[in-house]
Amino acid sequence: MFDLALINGKAFLDGKVSEANIYVSEGKIAKIAKTDERAEKAIDCKGLLVLPGAIDSHVHFREPGKEYKEDWRSGSESAAAGGVTCVFDMPNTKPETVTQKALDEKIKLAEAKSLVDFGLHFGATNTNYDEMRAVRRAKSVKFYMASTTGDLLINDDAAILKHFRILRERGMLAFAHAEDEKMVKEATARIEGSGRADLKAYAEARPPEAAVRGMETALALAASAGNRLHVTHVSTAGEVELLKKAKKSGMLVTADTTPTYLFISQSHLTRGGNYLKANPPPRSEEHRRAVFKAFCEGVIDIAATDHAPHTKAEKELPFWDVPSGVPGVETIVPLLLNEVNKGSLTLARLAEAVCGKPAQLFGLNKGSIAVGKDADFAVVDLKKEWVIRDELMHTKCGWTPFDGVKVQGNVEKAILRGKEIGAEKVAGKCVY
Ligand code: NCD
Ligand code: ZN
Repeated sequence: MFDLALINGKAFLDGKVSEANIYVSEGKIAKIAKTDERAEKAIDCKGLLVLPGAIDSHVHFREPGKEYKEDWRSGSESAAAGGVTCVFDMPNTKPETVTQKALDEKIKLAEAKSLVDFGLHFGATNTNYDEMRAVRRAKSVKFYMASTTGDLLINDDAAILKHFRILRERGMLAFAHAEDEKMVKEATARIEGSGRADLKAYAEARPPEAAVRGMETALALAASAGNRLHVTHVSTAGEVELLKKAKKSGMLVTADTTPTYLFISQSHLTRGGNYLKANPPPRSEEHRRAVFKAFCEGVIDIAATDHAPHTKAEKELPFWDVPSGVPGVETIVPLLLNEVNKGSLTLARLAEAVCGKPAQLFGLNKGSIAVGKDADFAVVDLKKEWVIRDELMHTKCGWTPFDGVKVQGNVEKAILRGKEIGAEKVAGKCVY
């Protein structure tokens, strides 16, 4: 007898959609077959499509320290509602995740409250080499090469290189927010001083050239150290070109982009500029198109969200005081399903970008529907049309950059290691 059966539906198996029932034992996929088997619990998936649970490699769940914006419960509820069953949380919490003690404490907090599995990114500073050499239960390290929300910053190339060498030795992954701090600082001072205060000005304060320079630096340092590098939130055509070149040269480099850079541009804003203020900022339509194309082609490997919630009150502050970042963990899968329905993205590429590739990047036994893998699923209605609305979101911040956007494709259920999130008792676990 199996613990769970997903019956009467279709599933994304071996790169294509097939009719199959999926059976689960002890949290793992135990059998995939057209036959009917006995199970403790059955979920009727008639008319629905079973996908692997999505993995979001870049979220800010804000706990510890900024629980008024989000916490592990609300963040994970939002993730599950959007078909995301595993997240990787960033280190710019309070305290910052730059010591083993802070990392262990965050794991404890998250295991007590999260409804999805998770991993934690460790944070690099200009001085925490000893911590880096010894850190346990993290396999990736975030490098904030430019100032952003919080105080974490590593802007000294020698320090980055020293860390990259340690990561190389330890087989760990460098995860880079690659913008050039000096260029960002200079441009920001100039633009802010000019009295301009809107999203267009912000795009000039953190210009495309700063992202390109940041990526050049990260690539050069990784080439020298020989470590694995992942560049997060690619937002410009220039970065796409650098990425292509680096991959061609055989470097161990991967990258992600987010719904902001796939779907929002200066000539297509989904809501007021204060809300869309983010690092990096939404770019021109030309950059957006280049990023979208590179994503569809797989040059940009992964779609992540950089889910960075801030309250509405914070987003209503005078423009230069508004904190940067937008929420997104709940809407990434529907937005991508919508592109599949439009014919601009294949389902295979979607599954690779939010399931297969992130699982590979972090070495997880997740990310595809195959016997022996964790039984994490997003059960979706590919045809359902709905309108994304602030009030439908589960994130504590209570808004979404995509309020009012109509999409086709909805997440009906999320299942974590064989348990239906929201209907059964579920406890997310640290993946390391
Ligand atoms: C992030 C945040 O709010 O924590 N903000 C953002 O604009 N992306 C920080 C970050 O990832 O840069
Ligand atoms: Zn981020």
